Amino acid sequence: MPDLDAPQEFAACDPRGMLAFVAGLPQQCTEAWDRVQGFKLPDEYRRVRQVVVLGLGGSAIGADLLRGLLAEECPVPVMVHRDYGLPAFVDAHTLVIASSYSGNTEETLSGFDEARRRGSRLLAVTTGGTLAQRARAWDIPLYLFHYETQPRAALGYSLLSLLGIVQHLGLVGVKSNDVAEAISVMKQWQEEIQPAVPTSANLAKSLARELYERLPVVYAAEHLSEVARRWKGQCNENSKSWAVYDVAPELMHNTVAGYPYPPGLRDSLFVVVLQAPSNHPRVQLRFKLVCELLQRDGFRYRVIEARGQSRLAQMLSAVHLGDYVSYYLAMLYDADPWTIANIDLLKERLSKG
Ligand code: F6R
Repeated sequence: MPDLDAPQEFAACDPRGMLAFVAGLPQQCTEAWDRVQGFKLPDEYRRVRQVVVLGLGGSAIGADLLRGLLAEECPVPVMVHRDYGLPAFVDAHTLVIASSYSGNTEETLSGFDEARRRGSRLLAVTTGGTLAQRARAWDIPLYLFHYETQPRAALGYSLLSLLGIVQHLGLVGVKSNDVAEAISVMKQWQEEIQPAVPTSANLAKSLARELYERLPVVYAAEHLSEVARRWKGQCNENSKSWAVYDVAPELMHNTVAGYPYPPGLRDSLFVVVLQAPSNHPRVQLRFKLVCELLQRDGFRYRVIEARGQSRLAQMLSAVHLGDYVSYYLAMLYDADPWTIANIDLLKERLSKG
């Protein structure tokens, strides 16, 4: 197994420097939050009855986290649509936000075009591409940001731009303190999990070693549910590994029934349970019982406590840890954490008809 405690060797399999983007998330969040404060939308956008964010992959996850964050406080439903077209309920009273880093994702563009036909309030959040062109041509509000990276590494922009926008619309209370806390908690945790810290004292490296040559299975609940999805996506895209995630309490009503078979899986999985101090006490008890089942049946698992007081800090601290884990897992597999050959291949094939 490659040596995670020789970080000087990482550059050989990370020539484009994904590590700097993983480490740069707190700073990116600072910049994204400052920038969005100056962005204003027309007043009629405040009267929308629901919000639908269109996006896929790295451009959808920011919206997923936003939805998890707002669930307890936003007076209107927020939904993430990762498909062609639009759900039937989307109408002129719906705010439709198209989120695409490249601005060229065909599913997102299809929903955007359909929302224009239905007379929805529209907004485009992107770095450019066809989405920016259409927004300009159709005189639709456009939030352009410039941060050159892979879409999934622009999470600070995709999440905090959306958060700033819904805050401006009055759909949530002021979040500046939570953003400041989240940034500070990420910076503190980074001190403990950065490459210079040896595996013996580094949670991210030791988790990556556990996940190496096993299937990562990530469990979470409530506002951390979409963080589990982020861990899955980062293991896929950065580490080039299979990964799955599951959400409580639903998983206690089906997933646990499937633990016995196939028996050969026992040594091939590693379960990460993401928890937060603010999880519902019954959910915490449920996770404790699930861990007892995993233990009884001989599965490997580890419980991780997200850090911070606010839901945003808990979410972003757990995201930051997961990003580092996926990076170290990429190093163990000797995989370039930047490239996404299979995604590029599919996009290229699709562009040919
Ligand atoms: C690539 C990545 C992908 C893209 C997705 C959609 O780093 O994260 O999941 O985000 O293919 O593309 P965009 O973000 O350009 O709309």
